[in-house]
Amino acid sequence: MDTLHRLISQLPKAELHLHIEGTFEPELMFAIAQRNGVTLNYGSVEELRAAYNFGNLQDFLNLYYAGTSVLLFEQDFYDLTWAYLNKAKENNIVHTEVMFDPQAHTERGVPFAAVIGGIYRALCDGFEKLGISFRLILSFLRHLGAEKGFRTLEEAIPYKGWITAVGLDSTERDYPPELFTELFDAAREMGFVTVAHAGEEGPPEYIWGALDLLKAARIDHGNSAMEDPDLLDVLRIYEIPLTTCPLSNLKLHVIQRMEDHPVRRMLDAGVRATINSDDPAYFGGYLNDNFIAVADALSLTSDEIIQLVNNAFEAAFVTDGEKRKFLQLVREQSGK
Ligand code: ADE
Ligand code: ZN
Repeated sequence: MDTLHRLISQLPKAELHLHIEGTFEPELMFAIAQRNGVTLNYGSVEELRAAYNFGNLQDFLNLYYAGTSVLLFEQDFYDLTWAYLNKAKENNIVHTEVMFDPQAHTERGVPFAAVIGGIYRALCDGFEKLGISFRLILSFLRHLGAEKGFRTLEEAIPYKGWITAVGLDSTERDYPPELFTELFDAAREMGFVTVAHAGEEGPPEYIWGALDLLKAARIDHGNSAMEDPDLLDVLRIYEIPLTTCPLSNLKLHVIQRMEDHPVRRMLDAGVRATINSDDPAYFGGYLNDNFIAVADALSLTSDEIIQLVNNAFEAAFVTDGEKRKFLQLVREQSGK
């Protein structure tokens, strides 16, 4: 194996931008559909995979939400999360911050308790049996608006101790951050950290809004920051991490070629950029594949790979002591 590829796979890593519903592999989807007596719009695993050709974010989201329709019971959410954790282990992920979209399920009548119960039970098992530490991020769906977000925030109250942060995802264009200012104020008052998808398809103004109005501690994606030097300065000075997702960006045509991916330019600008897989079951690769794709296309050096890995631990919502422990693991594995 190429030495850089070996370094990528052997380094202990953190993943900070991962939608648990986006890890739903077609094989598991069909198995759960069958046991729940739900019919999918596709006849086979192959037929479903063949449909993974997305023109843009909305094209993908339509399939992503269709896929979630088979998830009904606590055990379904457990099985989904457990399958991801095994992939995470294969990828040498030692810490993961998992996003979930409760509204994709509660809107279909699935109880909030079943969704979070299954995910959380699997994450606890992953910590005990696989040694993967975790945080949980409740993400609001922008296209449902703030009022429904408030109802979801209320449903989360009994599970406050399980959730570290709230996020904002789904359709970006036409759903600017200012629609969610009060919702995020309320979430912060409850003690949640905030993150937000911004600058994936949306303009730099949406990143400014995520920072100024939603007080986002990290920006998910953040690609369009490259268009605004003042914004890059702010991201650098305040050490706001960007959770970039190379294979996602390519599959959703945020970039036209992997060679165009901005992650090296972000590093060069002194911004705390990280690599993540977003929705790996849909975009053709888990975390190592994302590192390899972007490292090959941009000819990243081993130092740049290590920087990206360290950035993720620095950006994680963990204590300083945990950070030191993770960074030490990277030093031992990399010899740097
Ligand atoms: N939900 C799942 N993946 C997403 C992405 N890349 N952007 C916005 N919403 C999402
Ligand atoms: Zn995402």
